[in-house]
Amino acid sequence: MTIVWTDSLADVDWDELSALYRIAPLGNKAPADLALVFGNSMFRAFAHDAGRLVGAGRALADGRDCAYLCDVAVHPDCQGRGLGREIIGRLLAHCRGHRKIILYAVPGKEGFYERLGFRRMTTAMAIFDDQAGAYSRGYLTAP
Ligand SMILES: CC(C)(COP(=O)(O)OP(=O)(O)OC[C@H]1O[C@@H](n2cnc3c(N)ncnc32)[C@H](O)[C@@H]1OP(=O)(O)O)[C@@H](O)C(=O)NCCC(=O)NCCS
Repeated sequence: MTIVWTDSLADVDWDELSALYRIAPLGNKAPADLALVFGNSMFRAFAHDAGRLVGAGRALADGRDCAYLCDVAVHPDCQGRGLGREIIGRLLAHCRGHRKIILYAVPGKEGFYERLGFRRMTTAMAIFDDQAGAYSRGYLTAP
């Protein structure tokens, strides 16, 4: 694997990115929505192997106080080879100087982030568009 990294949006194939999330798996994300949310994100990381998109992630950030990492995924063919760690490392380098860098893990992936220095927040809370789905997928606990 010879990985080429970029944070540029110029050459992103949004259909390919959508397919990456589907197969990773990280859910169904419409190409047009991805173009919107990546376009609105301050930082991004894309990994290509021989021209094929094999990893991606992004961070919403305000430049000083808060940064929020999301949409981190690696193609199953390439998982377990340090790519996820590198995506997070690149996003963290971009976010350096922010007072807090936040994320929430897909249930079962907490250990990945713990290895990279993240610690559980005791008071994090959220309102999801699909609140019932968030309960059933294990993102929320009842009051
Ligand atoms: C989670 C994901 C991004 C990890 O990427 P990856 O390239 O496979 O991970 P890496 O090879 O960089 O692993 C880095 C370290 O985390 C560990 N790790 C990876 N997945 C883990 C998990 N689910 N639980 C605990 N540790 C994990 C690795 O063993 C490795 O540990 P080491 O440094 O001690 O060897 C990848 O599995 C993925 O895309 N999954 C599907 C989408 C997803 O769930 N994304 C996360 C959204 S929160």
